[in-house]
Amino acid sequence: MSAFLSLRHVGKDYPLARRGLFLPRRKLRAVDDVSLDVFEGETLGLVGESGCGKSSLARLIVQLEAPSRGAVSLDGIELATLDKRALKQARRNFQMVFQDPYASLNPRMKARAIIGEALRNYRTGTPDEIEARVEELARQVGLGTHLLDHFPHELSGGQCQRIGIARAIALNPRLIVADEAVSALDVSIQAQILNLIIRLQAEMGLTLVFVSHDMSVIAHVADRVAVMYLGRIVELATTEAVFSRPAHPYTRTLLAAVPTPTPAARGRRTAWAGEMPSPLAPPSGCHFRTRCAHATARCTDEVPALRDIGGQSVACHHAEALLSPTAASEVVHV
Ligand SMILES: Nc1ncnc2c1ncn2[C@@H]1O[C@H](COP(=O)(O)OP(=O)(O)OP(=O)(O)O)[C@@H](O)[C@H]1O
Ligand code: SF4
Ligand SMILES: [Mg+2]
Repeated sequence: MSAFLSLRHVGKDYPLARRGLFLPRRKLRAVDDVSLDVFEGETLGLVGESGCGKSSLARLIVQLEAPSRGAVSLDGIELATLDKRALKQARRNFQMVFQDPYASLNPRMKARAIIGEALRNYRTGTPDEIEARVEELARQVGLGTHLLDHFPHELSGGQCQRIGIARAIALNPRLIVADEAVSALDVSIQAQILNLIIRLQAEMGLTLVFVSHDMSVIAHVADRVAVMYLGRIVELATTEAVFSRPAHPYTRTLLAAVPTPTPAARGRRTAWAGEMPSPLAPPSGCHFRTRCAHATARCTDEVPALRDIGGQSVACHHAEALLSPTAASEVVHV
């Protein structure tokens, strides 16, 4: 099966302000040599701690920012090779849903105008046809059509996120990148919006990149999971494999930190071992080595490549040993 979305050695550096007139300008490497494929109709979950580069990667995928290195291709076409006009046409096929439903909607526009904006930009029909399409979209995302003449500040977070989703699906895209789309919502609303996204994905055959720091949300929605740490993908596998036999020590730590309802399971939860190192000065070799109980000299010297071990991809020098029957039962506490 060929990939619908394909990233090859993608990187993103952000230049930082100079600390002194004669000092060199520093760069922060937010995304570091990411290569991955996302297949048509699947949901890839992208998970990792705050600051690991999830949103930066999401913005590169939907071309809100240009990568510093590497290539992003959609349906076999490298997006950087497209001229302005061709890129505008390609943009119809990929849309983004943002974390903060209020901040991502124009406060001076009514819901009706927000949802219809892309339809007008792309001249998809007469004003009456666009009106009808906006009402159809509102119904599709479970937003009462009587709310279409309200401004975002007159609506709840959940209703605003429904507007954001209606806007994202208006042009029948093939790929949606949802960046923490439920994180800012009340817990009671999170499940409703999550289920809406899952339903739309199935109905429309969408390819979905679902970004979240929350492993339990990822478990609910994703077919495959990419785990990110300090700009790099450290594990990439089916959701079933990631949850039943996590191979990277960082993935194990993330899983051990998931709140569990039973007291016995709660007892096995681990605390984080300190802060994530600054992305301005990531550790040499394996970025995770300063928090890893299994680090060796090789981990300091050599960057572990993301490589296949029995169907799941892992960037750890010692993954096989950690997955051996004796080590498998051990939850790694770092
Ligand atoms: N425009 C920017 N300029 C400078 N640094 C940036 C910029 N955007 C992101 N960063 C830095 O890049 C790193 C990755 O940030 P990013 O927002 O992608 O992480 P994230 O995984 O989405 O975090 P969160 O879970 O908090 O949303 C962080 O260190 C962040 O401070
Ligand atoms: S490469 Fe070394 S430091 Fe990195 S996760 Fe594996 S064992 Fe730990
Ligand atoms: Mg983010």
